[in-house]
Amino acid sequence: MEAREARPKFSYFPFGGGPRVCIGEPFAWMEGVLLIATIAQRWRMRLAAGQRAEALPMITLRAKFGMRMQVERREAVISHAAMIGSEAEQQEALMER
Ligand code: HEM
Repeated sequence: MEAREARPKFSYFPFGGGPRVCIGEPFAWMEGVLLIATIAQRWRMRLAAGQRAEALPMITLRAKFGMRMQVERREAVISHAAMIGSEAEQQEALMER
């Protein structure tokens, strides 16, 4: 059984529930996953020194003390298009990053 099925129905409902449930939920999940995957492909993110990660449950869930992060560029990832191109095109793709 999935953990989700074992939980009470409204123990987690960021998109509301009942007759006025959010109609954008599937879009929001797709967008969120794409955003995180795109950012994390290029950047390694760590919590900034001294930053506390605590939730502030309001109408939406917020970070109580903000969420300052330290970002570090990852090693260049050559795009698929560049990998199948010529060496010059690969260089060009790397320069654009
Ligand atoms: C992370 C992103 C999002 C969150 C957390 C979120 C959350 C919510 C919540 C809590 C409600 C109220 C539900 C209720 O009253 O029970 C709502 C309603 C609604 N959301 Fe979202 N939403 C998100 C993204 C979106 C997107 C991307 C769209 C449109 C493309 C959208 C369209 C709507 C609409 C139209 C309603 C009103 C539905 C109604 O009252 O019948 N939302 N959303």
